[in-house]
Amino acid sequence: MKKFTSVSDVENLQEIIKKALQIKENPLSESEKGKGKTIGLVFLNSSLRTRLSSQIAAQNLGLNVLTLNAAQEAWNLEFADGAVMNGDTVEHIKDAIEVLNQYCDIIAVRCFAGMKSKEDDVNESILSQFEQHAKVPVISLESATRHPLQSLADCITIKENWQENRKPKVVLTWAPHIKPIAHAVGNSFAEWMQEMDVDLVITNPEGYDLDKNFTKNVKVIHDQDEALKDADFIYVKNWSSFDDYAAMPEVKENWMLTNEKLKNTNQAKVMHCLPVRRNVELSDEVMDGENSIIYQQAKNRIFSAQAVFSEILDELNS
Ligand code: CP
Repeated sequence: MKKFTSVSDVENLQEIIKKALQIKENPLSESEKGKGKTIGLVFLNSSLRTRLSSQIAAQNLGLNVLTLNAAQEAWNLEFADGAVMNGDTVEHIKDAIEVLNQYCDIIAVRCFAGMKSKEDDVNESILSQFEQHAKVPVISLESATRHPLQSLADCITIKENWQENRKPKVVLTWAPHIKPIAHAVGNSFAEWMQEMDVDLVITNPEGYDLDKNFTKNVKVIHDQDEALKDADFIYVKNWSSFDDYAAMPEVKENWMLTNEKLKNTNQAKVMHCLPVRRNVELSDEVMDGENSIIYQQAKNRIFSAQAVFSEILDELNS
């Protein structure tokens, strides 16, 4: 694997899921693989899971880990090409990446959507600069449009929880939120589930359809109860409007996932990438109930990251 920014960087999804599950059985099985090499984890945005699970994964492989919480700890970055830097920005992203090239064998970056310019976000205005200027493999720790390490962890979690000899019905359901949230997790989940052997349905209120470039021909149902019927897995996530970019059109019905809504499902397992706003996106009873596999999903972030770092190291060591 030369880089990891979307599902298209994965040669064989079932193989990498299998590898991640083997790593879960024996996390230190490749503890020398990254010896003498350094991964830089650069966070332009907040994180709990991605930061810690990536650190654990890298350490399990013997990598040196540099973590930079750039928004708090580094110089104020300039992203615009040709900018006259006579204002608040102190270092251009191009120069920062060139310096990271001197220190790191792998650069992993988190760069959320700005949610101001649809064009900038759709075109991955920050991740694309890393891809352009990095001379080492680039890994996405969530970008404007995708969260591939999360999606791989989601695939691993579904695989672990599905033993039946039929395709599971997986429902990605929109959930309420108090502020405009990016589309990366929803887009990415839709994209990866289309590569899995599942029946995927997306449900969201009118005005909240995700970008068709990610959902393609997946069925979108605007009635949550109808969509949840017979579900085997429910993935709860908020996102703002894509068409009316970052807007939050009014929603009259209550879309928060509750135990009542689980009654019509096939005892569905409930997933969420976290962080979650309890009693807004889903109820306490769901979060703490026996259907929730959300903490298992969070644990699998380690093995998702480790499987990817391991494949990148294979390329570097070849
Ligand atoms: N799910 C996820 O990416 O969590 P963090 O934002 O805490 O990293």
